Amino acid sequence: MMKKEKFIDPWGSELPEDYARLIKEFGLEEFNLADFPNPNKLMRRGLVFAGRGLKEISKAIKEKKPFYALSGIMPSSEKIHLGNKCVIDNMAYFQQQGAKTYMLVADLEAAATRGIDIKEARKRALNYYIPAYISLGLDPKKTKFYFQSTNKDVVGLAYSLSGKATINEYRAIYGSTSPSRIISSVLQVADILYPQLKEEMPGVVPVGIDQDPHIRLTRDIAKRAKKFKFFLPSGIYHKYTPALDGSLKMSKSKGNFIEIPESSDSVRNKIMKAVTGGRKTAEEQKKLGGQPEKDMIYELFKQHLIENDEEFLQRIKDNKSGKILSKEDKEYAIELLDKFMEDFNKKFEKAKNIANNLDID
Ligand code: TRP
Repeated sequence: MMKKEKFIDPWGSELPEDYARLIKEFGLEEFNLADFPNPNKLMRRGLVFAGRGLKEISKAIKEKKPFYALSGIMPSSEKIHLGNKCVIDNMAYFQQQGAKTYMLVADLEAAATRGIDIKEARKRALNYYIPAYISLGLDPKKTKFYFQSTNKDVVGLAYSLSGKATINEYRAIYGSTSPSRIISSVLQVADILYPQLKEEMPGVVPVGIDQDPHIRLTRDIAKRAKKFKFFLPSGIYHKYTPALDGSLKMSKSKGNFIEIPESSDSVRNKIMKAVTGGRKTAEEQKKLGGQPEKDMIYELFKQHLIENDEEFLQRIKDNKSGKILSKEDKEYAIELLDKFMEDFNKKFEKAKNIANNLDID
């Protein structure tokens, strides 16, 4: 597995170098594939790249000790996208490894930082977000879903812990501060520690690297709130999902990312505009080969669309050698995305029923 992993990450020096710098600058731990049994493809392919307190979680898994996994997403847009799916993939991984699983709807954070109406957010979450999480692989029988706004234990814990942070610490961790950010981050600290009110156990928070400041704050506060005897929560981080135009910013108006679900026409439209590592002409590509490391279609294959490592590697080889043209890659991506959406839609209606019958705070 280890040897293979090195081989699987074929990407050049661009992003990895930056991520290596992040690890150094922020004192992150590097993710070590060998520490986690049956790693998922995000782990095998270096997309999960760092964390904090990872040994504690790998130990809990290996020794079959209780631990939890918790994450959340703001219900700020109509739909989630493939980037958000990484969170669910990693949550599903830990669920399969025996974690008690908590998936929250960050409706208060969305209200504070995005001006989203709380009632509207609730509707959206029950009719879309939670069913989507179930369709993407979270087992509803083993997951506790909750809303920040109606979980009194979380809100109460946020108040109890608010005295444990200082403005200087906020400045050090977040740079700037504003009341809406302060209130949201204290709430997130409470989210992350809340499962430990019921049971003393370590926990892991799978999130994008952008959420690391919250994990730092939570670990600091957990250390100081001695009377609670919290385990310091762990964080596990995946890389950003680049937009289809190669930029790091997803933009609705540019249509440069894939939502879940999306119609076949719309998928085709977006994929056709995606940036590839292809050459100007088919002739040239046959001669020089493609550049999969710069190719957003390969990013999709890597993160979401091709499960099998051998198939993935073979495809990279064939693209590099000029055997596969970018046009064919795009057609294949469309085919796989269509299948993915079909499968999602099939599961979704049933998941909606399940979600509406769950007992959710
Ligand atoms: N801040 C997260 C976001 O922007 C949402 C969130 C709230 C969260 N509480 C959390 C994520 C606890 C992980 C753990 O989407």
